[in-house]
Order: sequence, then C-alpha cells, then structure tokens
Amino acid sequence: MLKSTTEALMADERAKKHHVLADRLQRALSAVPVTPPALTTSATGGGTGREAIIEIQPQMRLDDLLLPLPVRENGRQLVEEHVRADVLRAHGYEPRHRILLSGPPGNGKTSFAEGVAEALALPFFVVRYDALIGSYLGETNARLRKLFDYVRTQPSVLFFDEFDAIGKERGDTHETGEIKRVVSFLLMQLDQLPSYVVVIAATNHAELLDRAVWRRFQMRLAFPAPDRNQVEVFLDRIISNWPEAPRLSVQKIAAKMETASYAEALDFCQNVRRRNILGLGETGIDDALETELDLWSARVRPERLNAERSEQTAAVAEEPIPPGSARRKAKEHRQA
Ligand SMILES: Nc1ncnc2c1ncn2[C@@H]1O[C@H](COP(=O)(O)OP(=O)(O)O)[C@@H](O)[C@H]1O
Ligand SMILES: [Mg+2]
Repeated sequence: MLKSTTEALMADERAKKHHVLADRLQRALSAVPVTPPALTTSATGGGTGREAIIEIQPQMRLDDLLLPLPVRENGRQLVEEHVRADVLRAHGYEPRHRILLSGPPGNGKTSFAEGVAEALALPFFVVRYDALIGSYLGETNARLRKLFDYVRTQPSVLFFDEFDAIGKERGDTHETGEIKRVVSFLLMQLDQLPSYVVVIAATNHAELLDRAVWRRFQMRLAFPAPDRNQVEVFLDRIISNWPEAPRLSVQKIAAKMETASYAEALDFCQNVRRRNILGLGETGIDDALETELDLWSARVRPERLNAERSEQTAAVAEEPIPPGSARRKAKEHRQA
C-alpha cells in the first residue's frame, strides 16, 4: 500500500518533469526503515504533522556500540549537555542539537541516533520522506512546516536518514526551483528549532551535501568501517556469547573476512548460529562457520562490484600492445 502510493507519487512527479524530486523520493524511500510504521502515526490525515514521522522505540544503547574515540566522546558530551541543559542555560548557553553523522552503511549511524534518544529517554522520531514529499508546488514545504510545528511541541530526537536525499548541493543544473525552496525552507526550520529537539541527520555521502547545509551542524561525526582489529573485537563480543566456541580464533575469522561493516559482521555471525541451530546437533559450530566463510567470499557487495568494474577497465587500458602492431605504431605516432 505504502509502496504503491509512493510509486504513484513518483510517477506523478516524473510526469511533471520533476525527475530530480522523483529520484530523491525513490532513494529516500529505500532508506525508510522496515520497522512497522503507521501504528504511531495519526490515522486521521488531518495534518497534525505526525504523518511524516515514525516513532521508534529506542532499543540500542550507546554503550552497546563500538565507536571511534571521537564519536564516543562527542556522544558523551551531547548527552551531558542535554541532561544538564539547565546549568548551561543559567550561563547563557544552549546544548548543541544539530548533529551530522556520515560514513558507509552498516557502521552505526542509525544506532547512534537511537542510542542518543535512549540515553536521553526521549521519543525517537524518524522522518518519512515518502509522506513528506508532495507533488504539488509548495506541498512539501507545507508538510515540513507541519512536521516542525509538531516536533517543537516536545523534546525529542528527530532523525533524518539519507539526508543527502534532500540536503544535496543546490547548484545542480537539473535543479527545479521547488527543490531549492524545500532545502532553503528546511535549513530555516533547522535554524529555528529549539535546542530541546535534537536533530540528527545521517548520510553515506557527506561530500554531496551543500556547504550551507554542512555549516548548520554543530557536531559532525564520522562513522568509518571497522579495521581488522575492530572486527576482531566485535566478533569476539558476539562469539563469546555462543554456547560453543569455534576452533578458529577470531583473528583467523577476521582475517578471512578481510573487510566488513559491523552490520555485515553481525549478519555473518547470526548466519553461523542459524546453520548451527538448524543442524540440531548434526552441524557443529565449526562446520557451520566453514560453510558461512565459503559463502562469505562469494557474497555480493555493491562497492566491490564497482571496484571490480573499474579494475577491469583499468586492465583493458593497460593491456600491453604487441611491438610492431598497427596499434603500437599508432600509439608511438601519437606520442611523437
Ligand atoms: N559501531 C557499531 N558497533 C556495534 N554494532 C554496530 C555498529 N555499527 C553497526 N552495528 C550493528 O549493525 C546494525 C546496523 O547498523 P546501523 O546503525 O543501521 O548502520 P548505519 O545506519 O550506519 O547504516 C546495528 O543494528 C548494529 O547491530
Ligand atoms: Mg542507517
């Protein structure tokens, strides 16, 4: 239902030549979490501002995450500034409340935002772009206004995932005036938001963000993929809770995995346990691990597909040209 409505909306956008908007809508939609929606949104459609928000019960705790030192420290400061906001205000300061998270998928951006909400015991609101972006001129801004009017009524953590979908460079040549208006309006709303609303925006592509957008954020935190050592620590944490320890050390497992996001490493471990559990005693943890390691090397990874593609093109470009061939002569002629 949600999907068909959004598809209709996108078709509508395309029909009106709002391709950029439609593309962004599409990308933003794919970012909306699959956690059961709607239950907490207003069913009346009367425009309370809650339509474009999903409230999620924060489960993740900041302490459950393995975070780079600066992220951990900034997270701690952020929480303290809000817990003790009265002290700051007594001295004429406001807690910081506009946070930008960037980094490749699966390394804790959403979890961090959730962890902040959990630590502050605030509602965690995730913005639904599919319900935000309208097809009529000015409709998106009208909905944004309602969203912000609603949000400013109480302290909360407001999460914009895939923020580059809307906060992208305004200098695009294909840019429609409507998108410029939406971005400007969004920036203005962010500026005017009271500090008890913690806005956290996440992006896989910080470099795509408009400078004016970038500047709005008081804290900008990088969530890089874990290095080998961090993968080992992460695996160890998970595996030490298994009823049976595999013979292979976490160092060896991490070495075989080469690179992984935290989310991928977690998936991997869960799959090993699934094999193990369904094996009903027939499949030992070592067999399960071996099976999954074999599958791991064959898995599809978008980044790797791209890398392989560019390696192939590079290989073609550098393929040696046999001496004396017509191509060689042509090349020498060009270089002369
Ligand atoms: N830094 C981390 N420490 C521990 N677990 C992590 C970390 N990053 C990701 N995970 C695991 O991967 C899952 C997906 O991560 P998520 O926060 O959605 O990543 P992102 O939003 O950056 O794509 C999380 O629910 C968590 O279980
Ligand atoms: Mg995320």
